[in-house]
Amino acid sequence: MPQDTLTITDNRTGHNYTLPVENGTIRAMDLRKIKTDPEDFGLMTYDPAFMNTASCRSAITFIDGDKGILRYRGYPIDVLAQHCTYLEVAYLLLFGELPNASQLKSWVDDITHHTMLHETTKKFMEGFRYNAHPMAMLVSTVAALSTIYPDAKNVHDPANRLLQIKRLIGKMPSIAAMSYRHNVGFPYIYPDNELSYPENFMNMLWKMVEPKYLANPVIARALDILFILHADHEQNCSTNAMRAVGSSQSDPFLATAAAAAALSGPLHGGANEEVLHMLDEIGSKDNVPAYIKKIKEGKGRLMGFGHRVYKNYDPRAKIIKWAADQVFEVTGRNTKLEIALELERIALEDDYFVQRKLYPNVDFYSGIMYQAMGFKPEMFTVLFAIPRTIGWLAQWQEMLNDPEQKIARPRQVWIGHETREFTPIEKRK
Ligand code: CMC
Repeated sequence: MPQDTLTITDNRTGHNYTLPVENGTIRAMDLRKIKTDPEDFGLMTYDPAFMNTASCRSAITFIDGDKGILRYRGYPIDVLAQHCTYLEVAYLLLFGELPNASQLKSWVDDITHHTMLHETTKKFMEGFRYNAHPMAMLVSTVAALSTIYPDAKNVHDPANRLLQIKRLIGKMPSIAAMSYRHNVGFPYIYPDNELSYPENFMNMLWKMVEPKYLANPVIARALDILFILHADHEQNCSTNAMRAVGSSQSDPFLATAAAAAALSGPLHGGANEEVLHMLDEIGSKDNVPAYIKKIKEGKGRLMGFGHRVYKNYDPRAKIIKWAADQVFEVTGRNTKLEIALELERIALEDDYFVQRKLYPNVDFYSGIMYQAMGFKPEMFTVLFAIPRTIGWLAQWQEMLNDPEQKIARPRQVWIGHETREFTPIEKRK
């Protein structure tokens, strides 16, 4: 019997089946041959939240959740955060290799020349209600880009795909900034091609009447580091949405909008906004023990804590804590930090959290840092969506190039009625 196999005995029939094991997995389709009789559909697995199902083979991002390891294309996240710019990391995620100096220059030039929004996009955004949530504006506007670039539907043409990817990476900060300016009632600021990616974003967010926006270099670098940390995270909820929607060969603007919609939920990217609301609710360091007690009684969740994959400290949270210190030197310490540190201290010692391996995740400290930079909580998830766009697109491209990938279409376990007799409306009770 070959060693890399699994033998299953079906106790319903007494039959034995030997299935190959590859990369620590068996193929779910191999289970189909396990039948009670020729009419039987065959065995399936039931895994409603993909708790133990690999949906693809990927070479982009590696996570070892028990050890707290995160690598993009083999490079540890802390090394990339220390030495690279976000656009350099974006290139790495997309093409698989770090760019040399001339590759990086032309990549940055290309992205910079795709930052402008079509004027109709600007008008479209102006049509949102004055208090529209910036994340909902972002999701809708990214989908609306599909109307401007109908060529994007040629998803099997690599050159066309690359053009749409550059458009999306370039335009994401412009849409995000516009959604913010709309929310606060300021006019839209056009991109400044002389500035770096994060500086230009800051320009579009915060420029007022000065002729040239001068970005604070510490804040610009901190934003770039945050962008690197959020760039990809293997098969998370939004990336799964990107792959699932993209698998029907819809265009990348529509698939990215779907991914951003998935990101907006409070259990995913929306958690950073919720962390700030939670810290507001707690109010002061002294109220932390009572709040923890409430969580342990099952009344809510500690936002910014816990992760499906990390059962150790989220490596991104460690880097954010370090970057936050640099930001606080410029902005002054966020008063919420004290409450957050106390929450973390108590939670890391408490049996409830220790037993469940609940550690701070990326969203726990990012919000505090964003707030110190001057962002309102409603903008936090938008700040997550900008850099995650390259992760979604790299994963989308990998999916399209994977000869094994087909339209995503899970099965279900039927628990409803058998055929029922129809009752005309006048006879229904
Ligand atoms: N506070 C209190 N208890 C928690 C928390 C939390 N934040 N997270 C998990 N638990 C408990 C949960 O109640 C369950 O306990 P029990 O076994 O007694 O029923 C146990 O831990 C396992 O939780 P789970 O819901 O089965 O875990 P999951 O893998 O399905 O959920 C999660 C992962 C991230 C959705 C969850 O930890 C959570 O809701 N965290 C708060 C929201 C949050 O911070 N999300 C951001 C995730 S990181 C950024 C990103 O990638 O989007």
